Amino acid sequence: MCGIIGYIGKRDVVSLVVDGLRRLEYRGYDSAGIAYFLKGEIQLKRSVGKLSSLEAILPRNPSDGVSGIGHTRWATHGKPSEDNAHPHRAGTLVMVHNGIIENYLSLKKKLQDEGRVFTSDTDSEVIIHLVDSFYQKGLSLEVSVQKAVMQMHGSYAICILSKDAPDELVAVRSGCPLVVGVGESEYFVASDIPAFLSHTRNVIYLEDGEMVLFSPNGLEICDFKGARLVKEQHQISWDPVMAEKGGYRHFMQKEIHEQPRAIVDTIRGHVAQEAGEVLLAGTEEIGQWMENCQRIVIIGCGTSWHAALVGKFLLEEIAKIPVEVDIASEFRYRDPHLVKGDWVIGISQSGETADTLAAIKEAKTKGIPTLSICNVVGSSLSRETDAVFYTHAGPEISVASTKAFTTQLTALTLLAIYLGRRRGHLSEKAGKQLIHQLFLIPKQIEEVLAHEDRVADIARNFFRYRDFLYLGRGILYPVALEGALKLKEISYIHAEGYPAGEMKHGPIALIDENMPVVVLALKDKVYEKIVSNVMEVKARGGVVIAFAEEGDTELAPLVDEICFIPKVVSALSPILMTIPLQLLAYHVSVSRGSDVDQPRNLAKSVTVE
Ligand code: F6R
Repeated sequence: MCGIIGYIGKRDVVSLVVDGLRRLEYRGYDSAGIAYFLKGEIQLKRSVGKLSSLEAILPRNPSDGVSGIGHTRWATHGKPSEDNAHPHRAGTLVMVHNGIIENYLSLKKKLQDEGRVFTSDTDSEVIIHLVDSFYQKGLSLEVSVQKAVMQMHGSYAICILSKDAPDELVAVRSGCPLVVGVGESEYFVASDIPAFLSHTRNVIYLEDGEMVLFSPNGLEICDFKGARLVKEQHQISWDPVMAEKGGYRHFMQKEIHEQPRAIVDTIRGHVAQEAGEVLLAGTEEIGQWMENCQRIVIIGCGTSWHAALVGKFLLEEIAKIPVEVDIASEFRYRDPHLVKGDWVIGISQSGETADTLAAIKEAKTKGIPTLSICNVVGSSLSRETDAVFYTHAGPEISVASTKAFTTQLTALTLLAIYLGRRRGHLSEKAGKQLIHQLFLIPKQIEEVLAHEDRVADIARNFFRYRDFLYLGRGILYPVALEGALKLKEISYIHAEGYPAGEMKHGPIALIDENMPVVVLALKDKVYEKIVSNVMEVKARGGVVIAFAEEGDTELAPLVDEICFIPKVVSALSPILMTIPLQLLAYHVSVSRGSDVDQPRNLAKSVTVE
């Protein structure tokens, strides 16, 4: 996820573009860059770090032109560095890009064979070289872009400027957001409305497969074949703060709703569906090294530790590899027994968690190969480990982790399928089926999100309780832990996650009408057992809120509240079951008037012990 903006008009280009980038910084902030005109030449300024670093290197009165483009980056390919920052240049063209070009390696090879020299490690740079390869042949910028996009696979929102036409700008959308702002004799195009909302409230939403051409004659919108389109203009009524949250009340809610997109981005490029295979694109070495490993140890903290616990189920069941899971802060001081043939995986959203980093270092001093599953490209953890599997959740602003967790589960599922196939424990047919189910997940999450009001109703009925118990079994036990953690951290209600089978060994003593019990029940091999647990709770006057699968008529009459998720195979159920629990915690917190996005005493990235 990155933020892009283009401006064309008579006002101060640089300050408008920089101002727009500031409002897009929530989409990424590891580097930023801008291109603008001065004396007929395109000036490029790029800088590592937040936007303030870019502002610090901008000269006074930098531009005398009427157009400019800008970018705030969330690295996906290539670490945060000045060379990898956008805009990228080829010939007389400059470009900013948000998205991922899946076939960039083959395109890059072809372009290099034609003698083109690349200066970054990004997938994005191939776009501008590809466009330029047509442009140099004398085609117009519009046609060059159309020809280039025909060869590109992946997702993109792109803005391009040409030195030859300083008062023109081309932008294209496929799979990444892009909106046009229409002002008084000026135009904006950006990843999101807040980028220009203080200047105009008139917007045109571009759809995938559309491009917009700005020139002194105004704007034209066409499809990738050049056919002109007539698009409706809309008036935005949001205030700027609401707009930054995409119209959602809090970043957490926005990030919960981003999960379908985040999962698609995490899967993107890793799957050969027809062959039932997972490709670890960009991280091939993982597979070669791990294929013959004897045991995997997964470590993490908090939510990432919960992902690790789900990973144990996935890797043991699908790939038949013994897995141990440890809390990073325990692992590092325990003198863990690691032997040749072991692999250590560190899971972390931020890649900066001190305990996880120290645990990985501990494994490395014992000569054990390491892999990280990480969301932040170029983070300390990703640099420390021998290999990285990046999730593509995009920046997570809210302190409570949501989309990072479900993308970690997605990455672990992909790894398990990969190793299962390579080690011969997962047949081609079973691999295909699982991949097919994985592709359905984003749509199924949308179905769950469509019932947010139902979960909000439950939250309003229960937000005054002081204690909650969450019960799950098997692969849903870590999800119960995650549900309880979400509730406690943003609503300050005491909540405990427990493996349902353990209830009778102690926690059952707590059951009464004052402690709601959240039960996660799918029609899997432990379904009958979990129904028995529900009966045990009810027999002691307890209150049960159940999350079950559609069509479960057996559980509904036994519980006080029930909410359904679509039918899903066991391996993927943690992803889907997590969503209503996030919503429950969110709406309880809202009802209690807590600070949802910045709960007390917590920090987004725990860089101290
Ligand atoms: C919970 C939460 C924390 C983090 C933990 C690890 O919502 O956000 O428990 O999961 O601090 O952080 P990362 O994943 O960045 O290592």
